[in-house]
Amino acid sequence: MTQETTQPEVNIGLVGHVDHGKTTLVEALSGSWTDQHSEEMKRGISIRLGYADTTFRKCPGVDEPDCYTVDEACPDGETSEPLRTVSFVDAPGHETLMATMLAGASLMDGAVLVVSATEDVPQAQTEEHLMALDIIGIDNIVIAQNKLDLVDRERAMENYEQIQEFVEGTVAEDAPIIPISAQQETNLDVLIGAIEETIPTPDRSDDDNAEMFVARSFDINRPGTTWEDLTGGVVGGSLVSGELTPDDEIELRPGREVEEGGQTEWQPLTTTIRSLQAGDGAPDSVGPGGLIGVGTGLDPSLTKGDSLGGQVAGEPGTLPPTRNGFEMDVELLDRVVGENDEVETISTGEPLMLTVGTATTVGAVTSARDGECEVNLKRPVCARDGATIAINRRVGARWRLIGIGTLRA
Ligand code: GTP
Repeated sequence: MTQETTQPEVNIGLVGHVDHGKTTLVEALSGSWTDQHSEEMKRGISIRLGYADTTFRKCPGVDEPDCYTVDEACPDGETSEPLRTVSFVDAPGHETLMATMLAGASLMDGAVLVVSATEDVPQAQTEEHLMALDIIGIDNIVIAQNKLDLVDRERAMENYEQIQEFVEGTVAEDAPIIPISAQQETNLDVLIGAIEETIPTPDRSDDDNAEMFVARSFDINRPGTTWEDLTGGVVGGSLVSGELTPDDEIELRPGREVEEGGQTEWQPLTTTIRSLQAGDGAPDSVGPGGLIGVGTGLDPSLTKGDSLGGQVAGEPGTLPPTRNGFEMDVELLDRVVGENDEVETISTGEPLMLTVGTATTVGAVTSARDGECEVNLKRPVCARDGATIAINRRVGARWRLIGIGTLRA
């Protein structure tokens, strides 16, 4: 397997029920996880939202789909040609991590939904994740019907039909269903072909202002480092538009909470980019696609332990406003995802967990009418008018997805 040093141009989410084979598939397609790299910066960013980069390649003179590969050497001895480098974002399958999944979904340009042929369809997170893709508006989906090596033909056909029935009327209705075995590396060429066809690299304009969704942040200094050797705080995430280069000044919003005259308020942080990390290297500039790490001049205590996760970074003065509350138009789901209960209307005073971009915050409902509500946030978010919000309600011991909101101007 090869790892190119090019920055990935597209982010592909790996979603699906726990143990259906997401990690095994990414390993088969990329050969290595970013968090296996020794560098602290990369290791730190990829733990919770795992990213793994790979270059899809094509063997010259070979028919589709046999031509697709991730290996440099073709079976006939020829060298394969690189098509494009993609980044897989691995969404955790455990149900308690739905908020992380939704945060990751805002970074995805398309998704591969992994469904195991050994279980009935849908399993809980298969359904939840598909709903989340629907909500965030990701419709470039490929379905990988996995673990084909563990079932007989009859079971495989039955499972295939269950998948077809399950996706009917959803955002994945037209998604190709590719039978594979991630573990045996069977049919991966067909899967790569389907991804190439179904999940194109989005059109992005270079002249847009840089806007980065921060998913993680950390302090990369080892304990005991003396102050003159300290490295500034690092933020990790993805650019959704524009470009960043070293020495650029950037602003982070909402920033940090400060106390002034007995009152607390959030103030944006401003700093300079000291270093960049993308793909396998430290490029002179980065654009959208894949995971990027941005070394800053910030005091590392500000970035420790993901404290800046959920913030937005970009050129000072160009970022969306920081909001302590907002009004949103609300569309409730018919049913609580993962439960069979109907969704009851939102009531004044109830707490909701809201995911906006990579930010997750709790909001108290200050007023609720049919199809709209107003919330006061515990922690502010930086978000544009019209932003999509995933709305979760506490059901029993867990937060459950109950609907979507659109931030009102
Ligand atoms: P989470 O990250 O916990 O959500 O799980 P996952 O979806 O990443 O599943 P993972 O890749 O860890 O696979 C779960 C188990 O299934 C592992 O023991 C894999 O070895 C096995 N597995 C995955 N794909 C296949 C396959 O195609 N065939 C067989 N036989 N086993 C597989």
